[in-house]
Amino acid sequence: MQVIRPKSDGLSHAAALKERIVARTARVGVVGAGYIGLPLAVAQAKAGFTVVAVDQNPIRVAQLNQGSNYLRDVDDADLATVVTRGKLTATTELDRIGDFDVVIMCVPTPVTLHKDPDTAFIRKIGAEIASRLRPGRLITLESTSYPGVTEELLLPILATSGLKVGEDFFLAFSPERVDPGNARYVTVNTNKVVGGVTAACLDVASTFYGQTIDEIVPVTSPQVAELSKVFENTFRAVNIALVNEMAQLCDKMGINVWEVLDAASTKPFGMMRFNPGPGVGGHCIPLDPFYLTWKARRYDFHMRFTETAAEINLAMPWFVREKLRRTLNERGTPLKDARILQIGLAYKRDVEDWQESPALRVLHLLEDDGANVEYHDPHIPSMREEDGRLRHSVLLTPDALSRATCVLITTDHSSIDWDFVVRNARVVLDTRNATHHVEAGREKIVLI
Ligand SMILES: NC(=O)c1ccc[n+]([C@@H]2O[C@H](COP(=O)([O-])OP(=O)(O)OC[C@H]3O[C@@H](n4cnc5c(N)ncnc54)[C@H](O)[C@@H]3O)[C@@H](O)[C@H]2O)c1
Repeated sequence: MQVIRPKSDGLSHAAALKERIVARTARVGVVGAGYIGLPLAVAQAKAGFTVVAVDQNPIRVAQLNQGSNYLRDVDDADLATVVTRGKLTATTELDRIGDFDVVIMCVPTPVTLHKDPDTAFIRKIGAEIASRLRPGRLITLESTSYPGVTEELLLPILATSGLKVGEDFFLAFSPERVDPGNARYVTVNTNKVVGGVTAACLDVASTFYGQTIDEIVPVTSPQVAELSKVFENTFRAVNIALVNEMAQLCDKMGINVWEVLDAASTKPFGMMRFNPGPGVGGHCIPLDPFYLTWKARRYDFHMRFTETAAEINLAMPWFVREKLRRTLNERGTPLKDARILQIGLAYKRDVEDWQESPALRVLHLLEDDGANVEYHDPHIPSMREEDGRLRHSVLLTPDALSRATCVLITTDHSSIDWDFVVRNARVVLDTRNATHHVEAGREKIVLI
């Protein structure tokens, strides 16, 4: 039986919790120790909080408890240090949620097969928290979702506890902006937007995040924070779609899109460069715009720009297949039975993540057409697909390169020697302009 701690000496719950936060005695639970949860948990443990990562994945939990890292974005030594010091532990037991003064929700927010928001993870963890909620707790949601999710979905679930938001417990939305693979901007130096359900919620949540993050950006409601996050990613999705559309036009006109972009990017103002590619991937850009358009439809408002952008980005793997077909056709080879060596399965450079990766979509499309596809990815030595199929990365040897009818570059990892690739390949279709520094053998390179 959990004991309800009394407010200390007549302090309000908010003031008492803030005291514990500032003294770093507040116990922190991070639910979901993935790309956003783990870096956050480590940052808080480094700042002196005692943190427990709650994750349903027993392999991750076991690794964490041994101080063993599974994410490139987390520093091995930082993780080992906080685990050794007992500042960070991990568990699969959701029951532990009742122990924490601060619970940060970092669970996935995927879309369904029909591209509608799938909020099942938020609802499940929300119910787990509600059943153990005690006065004086702060709950923050970091998972990206549609504007309204905190107050319309999560708050009613937490309110089943009978406690009052803003007085007994505190609730805020604070979107995570982490950019996997970005060494310059990490958890602590990326400004953090915070929107509380009430003024007290904002105050407590800002105090909490202010302990670990350099700059807090308070906003007047969770909805503003939620919308700012989906807008940021929709901004990227729309601009990527624009250059992808340009790439397709340039293909028809016989113009090098990369040269066009290099030229346009010399403009010192009013121009922000985005690059074309085989599509968009990862946990954010392919999904977040659908959360926004789904919500907008509730207001009979169709976000045509955003929907068109999603359509263009989703179609890029088909464009790559078509371009590969033509590339082979010009050399008298059909795609059927061709040997394709695909370089890069990760959704972007220097990450190990192939979730929603357009490279994988391309691979499937090529196999659908009867091509024999092997892949090389230095960050993905092997991968198991949803249907159980296990694939292994092949070594990037002169033999593997020269045996391939075509080398297809879908991810421009910085560790790959592109001179070596071009030197040994028969023909290269480069969807990322990874080979832009290569001088010898340029006649073998086809760019999108
Ligand atoms: N990855 C990014 O670059 C990024 C950036 C900003 C925001 N986000 C958002 O952050 C959220 C999480 O994304 P992520 O990339 O960290 O996902 P992830 O898949 O890397 O991690 C999610 C973790 O949650 C765990 N989990 C799932 N259900 C659980 C449950 N019921 N109980 C306990 N643990 C559970 C999983 O085992 C996994 O370890 C999503 O809403 C995503 O949109 C991601």
